[in-house]
Parts: sequence; C-alpha cells; structure tokens
Amino acid sequence: MSSASETKAEDNPSASYSFFDEIISIYSPVNLLLTAIIFVLIYKIYRKFTKGHAESPAVELPRLRKDMTVAELRQYDGTQSDGRVLVAVNGWIFDVTRGRRFYGPGGPYAAFGGKDASRGLATFSVTSSDKGYDDLSDLNSMEMESVKEWEAQFREKYELVGRLLKPGEEPTNYSDEELEETDNSASSPDKKNE
Ligand code: HEM
Repeated sequence: MSSASETKAEDNPSASYSFFDEIISIYSPVNLLLTAIIFVLIYKIYRKFTKGHAESPAVELPRLRKDMTVAELRQYDGTQSDGRVLVAVNGWIFDVTRGRRFYGPGGPYAAFGGKDASRGLATFSVTSSDKGYDDLSDLNSMEMESVKEWEAQFREKYELVGRLLKPGEEPTNYSDEELEETDNSASSPDKKNE
C-alpha cells in the first residue's frame, strides 16, 4: 500500500506538491502584502467616513468666552438650537461642540454635556451631579491627578470658555482685547495643575 503511493508520488511529483504549493502560495509574501494593503485601505475609508460625520461641526460657532455658574453651564448640553456643548473639568469650562458625538444628546458621554465632569472622570463613572458647585475636596490624590490629566487633555483638544464659578464668585470680564491677546494661552498664568 505504502509502496504503491510512493510509486505514485514518484511517478507524478507535481501531484504530491500541489497541496503544499497552494498553502505556500496563499501565504506568499505577495499575498500577505496585498492583504495588508487591503486592510489599510478599508481602515482609511472607515476613518474618513467616521471623521467626516463626527469631527466637523455643521456650522462653526462664534467663540464663547465667559465664566459661568453651574446653573448657567447646564444650558449648554447640546439641546439648544445652536447645538453648543460645554463641559467643565477641574474648574475650567471647555467648548466641546466639535466632540458633540461624545457629549451631545445621545452620545456615550452625554451625562457630561453642560456639566462639571471632574468627579465622573476621576471615578470612571459616566454620571454627573445635578447639585450645585462640586469642590472635589473629598477626592483622593490619585483621583485629583486623574482630573488634572483630563484637564490637560481638554486643553489640548478644545477651546477654553472660562472658569466654573464657585458660589458668590464674580465672573471675569473678558474684553475683546484680552480675547485677542490671550486666545491660545488664556488661562496659563493661573493654571491649576502647575
Ligand atoms: C468600556 C468602557 C469604555 C470604552 C470601551 C471607551 C471607549 C472610548 C473610545 C474608543 C474613545 C475614543 C473615541 C474617539 O476618539 O474616536 C473614548 C473617549 C473618551 N472616553 Fe471612553 N470608553 C469607556 C469608558 C469610559 C469612562 C468610564 C469614561 C469616563 C468616566 C470615559 C470617558 C471618555 C472621554 C471623556 C473620552 C474623550 C472624548 C473626547 O475626545 O472628547 N470613557 N472612549
């Protein structure tokens, strides 16, 4: 039996090779390269599609520069006609309208829209309080570190609007000149995480 199959293979060497040939050709460097290219292209098309919908707001809103109380901030949860969304982190308010797919109505982090997200971010909980000003004084040092890291991320990605006012605190009057001068570094002198 074995000698018969050996004779067969010897008679026709290409027949015994064909199976391995196929395997080798499927995993050939050229095929692997082509597969990789297809995956990269599919990924690029996917990114382009999702970015187009998510990152670019339909209308560019004028820059908002204003200190707000918790009650004032609450209006900016994306349900107003202009769709503006603001989020506060570590006492600073950011305009996150370009990230409204996250924080706007129906987004995964909609609970943060128009709210102070500090406590939620620090405790990995997508919830926010409807109570008044949260001074975060009961957070431990690791949680406060996390709040500061989130603040730094928001500073990089979003425009600063102003400060979240403590009860009784007066808002800063941001004049037009100040706005122009301090456009990008508006808050660096009194940055909390220095
Ligand atoms: C299973 C758990 C989670 C998954 C899989 C997840 C996934 C993600 C992903 C993929 C992004 C990046 C989206 C993008 O840039 O396209 C993101 C961003 C983010 N996540 Fe999560 N997340 C989770 C839990 C949480 C929790 C618990 C919090 C806060 C308490 C949180 C807060 C955020 C925030 C603030 C952003 C940044 C959005 C921005 O760029 O403004 N995530 N998450």
